[in-house]
Amino acid sequence: MAQQKLETPEELFHYQLRSARTMEQHSLESLDELHAAVSDTKLKKMFSHHADETREQIDHLEQVFALMGYDLTTAPSPATTGIKNQAAGILEKADSKLHNQIALVSALGNEHFEISAYTALIFQAQALGNADAAKLLTDNIDQEIHTSKELRSTLKEMLS
Ligand SMILES: [Fe+2]
Repeated sequence: MAQQKLETPEELFHYQLRSARTMEQHSLESLDELHAAVSDTKLKKMFSHHADETREQIDHLEQVFALMGYDLTTAPSPATTGIKNQAAGILEKADSKLHNQIALVSALGNEHFEISAYTALIFQAQALGNADAAKLLTDNIDQEIHTSKELRSTLKEMLS
């Protein structure tokens, strides 16, 4: 079936919300892979905690679908597919003593993409007049910002 062209701001929001579900699914898969790749106990704990938060974020996204009256569907998220593939490729090439660092950099890249995705979704939800949806999306971005700061300081500490 041919994809219908997105014509309105709400259709665009809907599509990007569907992509965000895929994005968070990729985060879960990626956190699982990164968890397996690292040796550092602190990092393993951090990735497990982020996976728990990601499950909460998926739940928030599903609540936004309900608030907007949308069916629960997904759309592709090629950017996060790329981030995941990039990490897998570098991990395969690199000695295991570099895996902690590679995992942190990949997780940081993923967080930054998620922050940009939620920034747009929050503004779009506000523009569509749905404050409750904007609030749920803000809860997600707040977690992503917190996580990115944590990853950044852990990476800095590791390399200094
Ligand atoms: Fe996330």
